[in-house]
Amino acid sequence: MARTDTIFVCQSCGGFQPKWSGRCDSCGEWNTLMEETSGASAPLGSSASAPKKTRRGRIDFVDLGGDSPDPKRLQSGIAEFDRVCGGGLVPASALLVGGDPGIGKSTLLLQAVAGLARQGITTAYVSGEESAGQVRRRAKRLGLADAPVQLAAETALSAILDGLKAEKPDIVIIDSIQTMWTDQLAAAPGTVAQVRACAQELTRFAKKTGACVLLVGHVTKDGQIAGPRVVEHMVDAVLYFEGERSHQFRILRAVKNRFGPTDEIGVFEMGDAGLREVANPSALFLDGRGEPASGAAVFAGMEGTRPVLTEIQALVAQSSLGTPRRTVVGWDSGRLAMVLAVLEARCGLAFGGRDVYLNVAGGLKIAEPAADLAVAAALVSSMLDAPLPADSVVFGEISLSGDVRPVGRAEARLKEAAKLGFSKALAPSNATDLAAGVTVSGVSSVIDLVRRIE
Ligand code: TYD
Ligand code: MG
Repeated sequence: MARTDTIFVCQSCGGFQPKWSGRCDSCGEWNTLMEETSGASAPLGSSASAPKKTRRGRIDFVDLGGDSPDPKRLQSGIAEFDRVCGGGLVPASALLVGGDPGIGKSTLLLQAVAGLARQGITTAYVSGEESAGQVRRRAKRLGLADAPVQLAAETALSAILDGLKAEKPDIVIIDSIQTMWTDQLAAAPGTVAQVRACAQELTRFAKKTGACVLLVGHVTKDGQIAGPRVVEHMVDAVLYFEGERSHQFRILRAVKNRFGPTDEIGVFEMGDAGLREVANPSALFLDGRGEPASGAAVFAGMEGTRPVLTEIQALVAQSSLGTPRRTVVGWDSGRLAMVLAVLEARCGLAFGGRDVYLNVAGGLKIAEPAADLAVAAALVSSMLDAPLPADSVVFGEISLSGDVRPVGRAEARLKEAAKLGFSKALAPSNATDLAAGVTVSGVSSVIDLVRRIE
């Protein structure tokens, strides 16, 4: 008889431990451990995915230098989506599209799959969350009712795989992986064990049949449903769909891609007729800017291969709290602490005793160190209540010594600024000779920056 053991699996990272505790030993998340019964079906997905027969014999090797043509890419016609995928979907691959519930994953994939189906590519959309009627009504509202997409509402993996084997589609959407369940496991749908086993099975299906399988995964913080993080390492590409629900922009970001670059973003706008591509995101992020005000700096950033201009806003205000507040939206708070410390140490600006609020307008999240100088400029401008020179963009990395370091792709950043009507830039000194249609003032250090704002 199979031995039945109880183990506790972290619903966030998939790690497990024999005893329950409030905090996962592997990833440090709180309240994510859930009891699961192992035994005949170990929650590692191992037994569920283990082949029934062991295969004997030897493996065949091939030459590294052998001929291997580039995979044929399937393009949806939604340029922002195709670019983030690395130029289109690749046959025999599995993708994960993660994001907060309600952010627009189903809408995006329905639009993408309809674009593919209209070209005669066979597509299947399996919804575990909505009925076929609901998906149909949404398709009608989005003007996609004419696209020959095969639709099914099902959550049982074995039924889905049987259906797919009969239908043989080139593209499969599984919406979402958290609703799927395999009868090989006793665990409830949505637990790490189920999510992992289903994702493994579907990935294997993709490799075996040459289909491209897109898995939708909800990101949840509360640990009730297994985060798609456990699936990330199994798939070929991971795309995250993000944005503030209160804003209409949505950003699709590649965080892993075996067939293309990462850090590429696609920008969309959510409207009544679904997601609309935004070909010029800078114009969108800068939309609604008024007269130059203190505390605002336009950062000329890069998102993947594309320059994107965004406004960074800072407010430095007298604090009534013992420990002044530091609030950051869209940037790294550790990096803000560093910039504040450098400004204090090198320029004598005293931020202690003052609350600091930093916001990246438009809901974009910036990860580049090149934003240091723009953040510093916004902070200094707010502190001194002096607006930055009108029509100027800012970029550059700040070192702990207070020097401004060169950053990559300066010319592309300046060209984008010129295109949007900016005429000046505060940038590292090495960018001053670039002929990009913008007058560059070289900033050598944070002291130099303060001098230019005063
Ligand atoms: P959905 O694609 O269902 O999100 P997810 O699959 O990520 O959970 O999108 C749901 C939200 O999008 C919902 O709040 C309504 C909004 N929406 C629009 O604003 N316009 C539209 O045309 C559609 C289809 C949805
Ligand atoms: Mg959905």
